[in-house]
Amino acid sequence: MLIENSKWIRKKDTSSTIVPIFRKRFKNCWPVKSATLEITCDGVYEAVLNGKRVGEFILAPGWTEYSKRLQVQSYDITGLLSDVNTLDVVVGNGWFRRTNAPWTGTQNPDEFLPAMLIAAVHIIYEDGTEKLIPTDESWQVSESKILLSGIFIGEDVDMTKELVFEQAEVTDYPKDILIFQEGPEVHEQERIYPRSSFRTPKNEWVLDFGQNLTGYMYFEMDAHAGERLSLSTAEVLDREGNFYTGNYRSARSQLHYICCEGHQCYKAKLTFFGFRYLRIDEAPEGFSADNIHAIVLHSEMTRTGWLTSSDPMLNQLFSNILWSQKGNYLDIPTDCPQRDERYGWTGDGQIFCKAGTYQYDVRKFFKKWLADMKAAQHENGWIPEVIPSLTAYKPGGAGWSDAVTIIPWQLYETFGEISFISDMYEPMKKWLAYIPTVSTTPDLFTGCWTYGDWLALDWPEGYVPENIELSKRGYSNDDLVCSAFYANSVSIVIKVGKILGQDVTEYEELHNRIRKAYWKAFGDKLNTQTEKVLTLHFGLAENPQTVADALAEQVKECGMKLQTGLVGTPYLLHELSRYGYYDIAWSLLLRKEYPGWLYSVSKGATTVWEHWDGIKPDGTFWDDDMNSYNHYAYASVADWVFGVACGIKPAAPGFAKVRIEPHPDERLNSLGAKLDTAHGRILSSWKYTENGIRYEIETPTETEIVIGGVSRTVEKGKYIFGE
Ligand code: BGC
Repeated sequence: MLIENSKWIRKKDTSSTIVPIFRKRFKNCWPVKSATLEITCDGVYEAVLNGKRVGEFILAPGWTEYSKRLQVQSYDITGLLSDVNTLDVVVGNGWFRRTNAPWTGTQNPDEFLPAMLIAAVHIIYEDGTEKLIPTDESWQVSESKILLSGIFIGEDVDMTKELVFEQAEVTDYPKDILIFQEGPEVHEQERIYPRSSFRTPKNEWVLDFGQNLTGYMYFEMDAHAGERLSLSTAEVLDREGNFYTGNYRSARSQLHYICCEGHQCYKAKLTFFGFRYLRIDEAPEGFSADNIHAIVLHSEMTRTGWLTSSDPMLNQLFSNILWSQKGNYLDIPTDCPQRDERYGWTGDGQIFCKAGTYQYDVRKFFKKWLADMKAAQHENGWIPEVIPSLTAYKPGGAGWSDAVTIIPWQLYETFGEISFISDMYEPMKKWLAYIPTVSTTPDLFTGCWTYGDWLALDWPEGYVPENIELSKRGYSNDDLVCSAFYANSVSIVIKVGKILGQDVTEYEELHNRIRKAYWKAFGDKLNTQTEKVLTLHFGLAENPQTVADALAEQVKECGMKLQTGLVGTPYLLHELSRYGYYDIAWSLLLRKEYPGWLYSVSKGATTVWEHWDGIKPDGTFWDDDMNSYNHYAYASVADWVFGVACGIKPAAPGFAKVRIEPHPDERLNSLGAKLDTAHGRILSSWKYTENGIRYEIETPTETEIVIGGVSRTVEKGKYIFGE
């Protein structure tokens, strides 16, 4: 890495919170064969060479386990070079020097680091000579026009501010953490224009983009120096139609811009927002909705999966699921993109991962994040609840830390690449080795911290939990939840070990012991829906059909409602349908009332919500504390639509062989899924016609097609069944 010859540089006076701009002027002669810029920083940067942005990577260098891994980008800058060159780099706080939201405390020591840059320009001339321009004391630095910037605090800009450069100071910071870029870059995606511009009952000027999105706003206008543009964002309006920002909690989702003279344009450089609405708090004379639009940001990923149906509400749900993935696959898989979290919550990551692998090619995206998980794993085996880890955070516990087994296995199943499981085999085993060191019962995972069935709705009627924190964890038995995930992780390690040619006898014996101990401890105490669902899904029931019958009965008895939280919901429809209750699974999917997937759609949602009733039937909100309108855990239902309703399942890793068994429901006229795999495109659709059901299937490889219980194995091709 060329950058290894460079020195970390910073501003001498580090007391200012204004974002620094580093500058290097250099001459160049011709002819140039190639020129590259290698660069990274302890925050997020934007590099500009001779007035043009270098590369398309937004929020570079991305978020990794910084204490061990910091990505370095390498850009081809040949086309940007001139005879005399000015390279400018602004370095904002980003995720590295996270300006902590107050509730997380100030336990992140990196928060107090100054902005630092390390870079090298490398020019190779046609005659074979080379020129290296590393960061050192010959670089200059000034306060930039960006007065304030942070992931949780938005951006303040003063375009009238004069830059006053001084010599940069060389500083000591590790270089052994530098790695080449691993993940896909975050790029600007679609541009979204305001759909309407109106005054709220409070007489505030608001623009509606019609889509809850993750990104920032771009504006272009004529203005006089000193005029101001102040923008605030929101995901939803309140019952009265007023702007609502309470759910951002301590995140300041605003951009304040002081204009220079004349024509100008700007977009946030070093932060992002989660929003649908924009409030224009102050604007230069003549500013209108035509001057502004939104730019969507997410990691570069190729779309691989599509769902479409005859029901507009279901189609809106599919769209919401897609947008929640786009909004939360921003360099790392986040829980939400707007409030003062935006963290790589391991539980949420594993819950949505299967659906996520069907909609986009996320191999590169997860390669990097899993490497961070490996780097963040505690030496005694526990996996932090958020990856990249934060010092204030703790072990994830069951369902969260189990991301270490579930995600690599899912990636292997969807994409067929063995490196996902081979790279993570040791971390998986290490996590399993940790459990007996903390569990209070042999062969079970008991007595330990867990988020339980987070946000489940199954507290008994009238029961008021002693504290609000507890109430979020649902009524499922923590020990059961932990032990069920323990069993599942062991079974994944067995499968992985066998594929890797390892001796897994020890894990097979362990799995047998867990199953026995589990059934003995919990078999006659399967009370909540989630307790039954986990027992079924992880193969822990001695009499699965009886458990499934009881689950179906319970769903019906409580009014055809799901009561599951984050850990039970992803598997609920799968287990109902596996044991013959397709009609109930469909009823839950198509339910328009709270709690149900189409309820939020009926309330105008354009992304998937954290709470089924983020907006209650009477239009009031779930409280500000945890009320994200872009949370993809419940979007995991897409994997049931692909895998059961349309029936597309891998029969061999990576869909090298396929099994297609669609399960139509007459409440829907038609449904179709399209899935691009390493072996080609799979299509499965069905439609109710006058004569029955017509199925259209296309497969790129050997496939077992099961229709109406009749199975046939076919070669690559297009097949139609029914009329
Ligand atoms: C996040 C969740 C996460 C949880 C832990 C929340 O604040 O937004 O989605 O999994 O904490 O239970």
